[in-house]
Amino acid sequence: MKINWIENILYPKVFLNRRKATKYFQGKTILITGASEGIGKACATILSKFQVHLILVARSQEKLEEVKAIATQNNSTASIYVTDLYQEQQIDQLIEYIHARQMTIDILISNAGKSIHRSLTKSLPRYHDFTRTNMLNYLAPVKLTLALTPLLSQQKGEIINISALNVLLPPAPHWAAYQASKTAFDQYCRSNQSEWKKMNVKLKTVYLPLVKTEMIAPNDRYKNFPAMQSSEAALRIIKLILGTGSYSRPWWSPFPITIGFFIRKIWDKF
Ligand SMILES: NC(=O)c1ccc[n+]([C@@H]2O[C@H](COP(=O)([O-])OP(=O)(O)OC[C@H]3O[C@@H](n4cnc5c(N)ncnc54)[C@H](OP(=O)(O)O)[C@@H]3O)[C@@H](O)[C@H]2O)c1
Repeated sequence: MKINWIENILYPKVFLNRRKATKYFQGKTILITGASEGIGKACATILSKFQVHLILVARSQEKLEEVKAIATQNNSTASIYVTDLYQEQQIDQLIEYIHARQMTIDILISNAGKSIHRSLTKSLPRYHDFTRTNMLNYLAPVKLTLALTPLLSQQKGEIINISALNVLLPPAPHWAAYQASKTAFDQYCRSNQSEWKKMNVKLKTVYLPLVKTEMIAPNDRYKNFPAMQSSEAALRIIKLILGTGSYSRPWWSPFPITIGFFIRKIWDKF
């Protein structure tokens, strides 16, 4: 009850203008990575109300079929492409599939991701934590955006980077693998932003706070933390696509960003 009250303040409800959304999205092809559950599934569910074509990417065929069924029920169409984004070869196959069918892509929602919360001591024998988070959170989306830039450019399309608020905060203990990989992709995107603009490709980034999905489920400490619902996160993502801004973050984020900056200054002195 108490958390609900805090959540309502931290994450006020957002609403979509349905008519504007239909006008904007109708007939568009939208590729969503990590579409089988969590935030990706919530984006697919809402977007499917606007008669779009969805290309749904993740590893779980069964869950993707469920999302496809929702899209069809909502009068949209969907193709599913089962891909393990840890595997470069499978990313190449996805790219080939798109090119072979001469698909157009209007919007790429780069959402698939993996989070790891682990101390340095526990990470010592776990180099693979870093290769895996880097592959999924950084290198796979780099490979996809490089390959899809010409298609997005033809369509005057958009790349939506589903990032995390902790990318904007100072580095935090136990988050090295996750924070480094998410920051790497954010830097890559921001570095390319002006060149994408010249190619008629817009970059938009959503710096999400904690969202109630499977990603945070293994971490007991988050059970009582105020967090956003995945549908609310998806609404914010879609609102950003519809709006003119290039990024979105929670209204209160300037406070931890500023406090973090000063704490870092003090911390570094010791
Ligand atoms: N939840 C949060 O608190 C939070 C906060 C800030 C930012 N984010 C960001 O939001 C995005 C979505 O997170 P979420 O919370 O919705 O996570 P989630 O519920 O765990 O969903 C992750 C999605 O990524 C897919 N995925 C995982 N590994 C994959 C792989 N190797 N190849 C292809 N797809 C893979 C999963 O599908 P399969 O398992 O079927 O492959 C699933 O569809 C991530 O980029 C995350 O960094 C989340």
